[in-house]
Amino acid sequence: MNEPPVEPETRNDAGYRSFTLGLFTFSRDEYFAHIEWTAKGKRLSHTMSADVFLRALMRDVAWDFFYGAVHFDDVFGTQNRYGKVELYAGRHHPAYTAQGLDYSESFDSKLAMQTCKAILHDWTNTGYDPFAAPMETGLTWIGKKVGHNAAAIGRMREACKRMPGLPGDVPLRTDRNRYPVNRAFLDVPQDEPEIHAEPGFEGEVHAFNLFAYLSRSDVTWNPSVTSVCRHSLFCATTEEYILPVKHANDRIEWFLQLSDQLEWKSEDRATGLPRAKIVMRAGDIAAMPADIRHQGFARKRAMLLVWENVDPKLPALYESGALPPSPAGEF
Ligand code: PHB
Ligand code: FE
Repeated sequence: MNEPPVEPETRNDAGYRSFTLGLFTFSRDEYFAHIEWTAKGKRLSHTMSADVFLRALMRDVAWDFFYGAVHFDDVFGTQNRYGKVELYAGRHHPAYTAQGLDYSESFDSKLAMQTCKAILHDWTNTGYDPFAAPMETGLTWIGKKVGHNAAAIGRMREACKRMPGLPGDVPLRTDRNRYPVNRAFLDVPQDEPEIHAEPGFEGEVHAFNLFAYLSRSDVTWNPSVTSVCRHSLFCATTEEYILPVKHANDRIEWFLQLSDQLEWKSEDRATGLPRAKIVMRAGDIAAMPADIRHQGFARKRAMLLVWENVDPKLPALYESGALPPSPAGEF
């Protein structure tokens, strides 16, 4: 990624550029990201730790604003309207909404994405990888601006067409293509399944070792699409530390815990008030309803399969109440 030319005076004394999108401005210093907006004729600002902001922004960029809402924290976030995206500050926070100090603005997704990518590029220092577990990337996010890390932030969501390893599809991960086994998964067997297809069906049968594939994931909290069947997507991922966003999906999604343990906090979608705490151990399955936001926690790197239904009709069906928010019915 080439950085657009920048006049030196647009950089602040910490070396970082500021960015404007509609009535929002974004700036960072040695420790913090600052988001400003205008409401009731006043300029308001919100401060987040720069690493928290960058890890959340990295997901929004890599996932093209994802499904539904991506809360960076309890004040700032994005709502995907598929083609358009809303940025909001305070919209889900009663202290702001009660006084009319919240603000939302809708943008063409491509324009908003350009700005998000430019912020991510300028604010990510050499050595800092917002996709990595904190123990693996360290503290280079802190301090005055030093260089870039275009290779790390250029990773997009890996999405197969049908399944990794098929001819013409995304390749399996190996040492040779620079996906070494992660330190947490050294005990995961690396053998691949044998495929014995009936004559004539050789091109139609496929299998791969998903555990081996995941053991070589170099990122955390970044699902890769590992099988596609019409609208049914298996999105497998390895998790360590904290999911950098609180996700409020616009449909139901299912979680299958493949290894180790994850904890999820589930909150009311609109108010953020606690709804449930879920502890998932290997083999556990949970459905995340369409009326919550959730955030995951992993003390040790863990494997998770997220099952998404990408039917574009679903958001309207849940929003209108035509479909119940939970597959388990009312409770
Ligand atoms: C989710 O919001 O459902 C989600 C996102 C990223 C992950 C896992 C789950 O790594
Ligand atoms: Fe989710």
